[in-house]
Amino acid sequence: MFVISGGRPLCGVVSASGSKNAALPIMAASLVCSGQLRLSRVPDVVDVHSLRKLLATLGVRSTITADEPGGMTLEATSQKHHVAGYELVRKMRAGICVLGPLLASRGHARVSLPGGCNIGHRPIDLHLRGLSALGADLRVENGYVVAEADRLRGAEVNLAGPHGSTVTGTCNIMTAAALASGRTVITSAACEPEVIDLGHCLNRMGGNISGLGTPVIEIDGVDQLAGATHEVIPDRIETGTLLIAAAITGGDVTVLDARADHLVQTTNLLQHLGVCVQLPSSSGDAHRGTCEIRARANGRIRAAHVVAGPYPGVPTDLQAQLMALLCIAHGSSTVVDRVFPDRFLHAAELMRLGARIHRRGDSAVIDGVARLGGANVMAGDLRASAALVLAGLAAEGHTEIRRIYHLDRGYEQLETKLNGLGARITRTDDTPEPGSPHWRRQRRTASTT
Ligand code: EPZ
Repeated sequence: MFVISGGRPLCGVVSASGSKNAALPIMAASLVCSGQLRLSRVPDVVDVHSLRKLLATLGVRSTITADEPGGMTLEATSQKHHVAGYELVRKMRAGICVLGPLLASRGHARVSLPGGCNIGHRPIDLHLRGLSALGADLRVENGYVVAEADRLRGAEVNLAGPHGSTVTGTCNIMTAAALASGRTVITSAACEPEVIDLGHCLNRMGGNISGLGTPVIEIDGVDQLAGATHEVIPDRIETGTLLIAAAITGGDVTVLDARADHLVQTTNLLQHLGVCVQLPSSSGDAHRGTCEIRARANGRIRAAHVVAGPYPGVPTDLQAQLMALLCIAHGSSTVVDRVFPDRFLHAAELMRLGARIHRRGDSAVIDGVARLGGANVMAGDLRASAALVLAGLAAEGHTEIRRIYHLDRGYEQLETKLNGLGARITRTDDTPEPGSPHWRRQRRTASTT
C-alpha cells in the first residue's frame, strides 16, 4: 500500500528507466539466439523477473550483470523444453511473447493462454492467424496454445484487428519469421517503438528485417541468429507519467535519458493542455539518441478532447494518467480509447478522490474540479495504479492506494523517483480494511497469540 501526502508541487530532475514493453519481447528473443544476448537498460520490474523465471523453465539462463545499469545476459542452454505453463503466464500476459520464438527455434510450443486483465478483452487470434500463415499447425486445448512446425515458411501476414494492429502479435510473428525459410511480409504491422527496438535487436543478431516503424515489415529468414549486444530504449510510458506528475502537481520536472521522438503527440497534447514542455535538442546524448524533456506547469490545465490510439497517437498506456490530469482541468474534457475501448476502470477510483467523471457512449466525460481530496483507493491494473498515484500527489491531504503490486509490475522504483522530486509517498504493509477476510484472519491470529 502507498500512503501519499499530496498537494505539493514536484520539482527537479529524474532519469527514465529502460522500457518494460521493449525488454520483454527482446528477452523472449533469447530463445532464437544461438549465442549470448547481452542487454543493458533492462528495467528492474516484476514483469521482467516473471519472464526470467518463465524463460528459465525453457532452458534460458539469465544473469544480472553489474557492469552497467540494467545489465542482463541471456543464453539458451538447452532446447528440449517447450511448455510455458499457466502458473507463470497467468501472472504476466506478456508470457505470450515466447510463443513465436519457441515455435521457430524448437519446432513446437505449448503456451498457456494469457489471462485476461482489467483493461479489457485480450484475445490472441491475430498471433495465431500470423503463425498459421507461416505454416504452423495450431490448436487450442485445455487453456493452452499447442503449435507445431518443422520449419516455418515465409508468407504474407496481415495483422489488422478491430482496434488496429497488435504490438506483441507483431513481435511474435517478426521473431518467428526471422528464422523462417524465405521472405515474410507483415502488413498492418504495429509501428510502436518497442517493436522497432526488437527489430533492431534481431538485426544485430544477424536478422534481415526492414520497414520497422511502418505498417509493412519485411523479414528475410536466416538459418541461425547469433549472440548480440543491445541497449533497450527508454520507457516512453514512464517518461510520460513523470511529465504528467509535474503538470498535475503544478511543478517543474526534467526527465533525462528520454526519447522525445517517441512521445511527440503526448508532448504536443500536454502543451495544448497549457503545460510548458521544453525539448532541448543540444543536451541529448546524440549517439544513444536520448535527450531530456522538461515539463513545467503554467497556470491551470485546460480541458481537451483526448483520443488514445495506436502509435504514433497518444498511447493507451498513458490514457489513465491523462484522465487524472484532466480531473483538475478548467472545463469539461472527453477521453476515448481506440485501443482498449473499456479501459476506464480507473474512473471510479478517481471519483473517490473527488473527480467528476461519467460515461457517454465510448467516451469518458470529465468535468474538471479545482482540487482533489485525499481518500482510500484501490489499484486495478498497472497504468490505473499510476493514475491514482498522480491524483494522490495532486490531492489535498492523505491518499491510501492498496494493491500497488500492480504498479511494481511495470515501474522501476516509482516512489523513490517521485520522492526525489519532493513527493511524500510511503510504501507500507496493506493494513486490512475493517471487516475484510484479511482483517478477520488478522484479528483471529492476534487473539490467539
Ligand atoms: C501491448 O499489449 C502492451 N503490452 C500494452 O501495455 C499496450 O497497452 C498494448 O500493447 C497496446 O499498445 C506489452 O507490450 C507487454 P495489442 P498487447 O495486441 O500486445 C486487440 C502495459 O500497461 N487484439 O497491441 O497485448 C486487443 O484486444 C500494457 O504495459 C486482437 O483483437 O496489445 C486490443 O484491443 C497494458 N487480437 C488491440 O488489439 C489479437 O490477437 C491492441 O492489442 C491481439 C490484440
